[in-house]
Amino acid sequence: MKGLMGVAGALAFVLIAGVPLAAQAQSDEGKAIGSADRGRVIFQNGKGDNVPACSSCHGVDGLGSDDMGTPRLAYQVDTYILKQLEDFAHDRRTDNTMSAMNDIAKGLTAQDRKDMAAYVSTLKTPFMGSDLDALRANDVKVGEPYKGEIIAHFGLPDHGVPACKSCHGYNGRSAGRLFPAIGGQRYVYLKHELEAWRKGATGSRADAARYNDYMGLMRGVASHLTDEDIDNVAAFLTSAKPVSPGNPRAPVRN
Ligand code: HEC
Ligand code: HEC
Repeated sequence: MKGLMGVAGALAFVLIAGVPLAAQAQSDEGKAIGSADRGRVIFQNGKGDNVPACSSCHGVDGLGSDDMGTPRLAYQVDTYILKQLEDFAHDRRTDNTMSAMNDIAKGLTAQDRKDMAAYVSTLKTPFMGSDLDALRANDVKVGEPYKGEIIAHFGLPDHGVPACKSCHGYNGRSAGRLFPAIGGQRYVYLKHELEAWRKGATGSRADAARYNDYMGLMRGVASHLTDEDIDNVAAFLTSAKPVSPGNPRAPVRN
């Protein structure tokens, strides 16, 4: 069997070869994906009548909100942000949390969507993870981080769950430009997405919100997760740090 990194590397190769959007987004290595300055204006003020300020739901620092179920956008890979906005705009992904993102993405031009991705990737306010005690106090079901850590690092071979790390990198800090950061993401959002992927794998397309992963990679993973696994891995990932113990340097992202 190939090593895990070998698998991720081979996948990344296949994905880049097969996906023009992602390839195009990184065509000029090191060059910004769009105009962060133009993106900032829309992020803070919205655009016209159909696009509210992104900050009203994702927060001024882009850290998201567990109350609203919005994701942290800060620190996310720019090509991944762009892909999601394109997928919302073309109904390849459905926002079934606030039923807002599909219309918002359609209200942006293709250039605006690139500018949003460029701006969002400049947001760097540190996020310490969702407040699990506060969520428990609000009757949200919260899992056990130590059990989730095992899933993130090693998977659950007894029921077919691969290690999240094999695609998303150490502590889910993202790997390459196609595998998003899932470490340091909001608990409520992580849980919702994992359920959405699982539904995308097993339910009908009509009631699934997420079916926009290349070759069904994430649906394949989520289809093996139990409710408990989802709670546990989300509880670990929300406060998982991108740096390994003893190594203060965050990975360089181009
Ligand atoms: C009315 C609230 C609202 C506003 C305004 C809003 N969003 Fe969102 N956004 C959401 C919600 C809710 C989700 C999660 C949808 C889901 O998966 O169920 C989301 C998801 C996203 C995602 C997917 C992130 C990921 O990790 O996959 C991106 C990217 C995004 N929003 C960008 C934007 C941008 C850019 C703007 C402004 C142009 C914006 N949003 C405005 C509510 C909002
Ligand atoms: C075989 C590779 C692979 C493995 C293993 C994998 N993922 Fe993913 N995951 C992906 C890909 C690819 C995407 C991006 C899909 C897209 O482009 O929309 C993704 C997206 C996600 C997202 C959505 C992030 C966001 O911001 O919207 C979450 C959450 C997630 N994965 C969680 C996990 C967890 C938890 C595990 C471990 C149990 C895991 N993944 C294992 C490939 C993988």
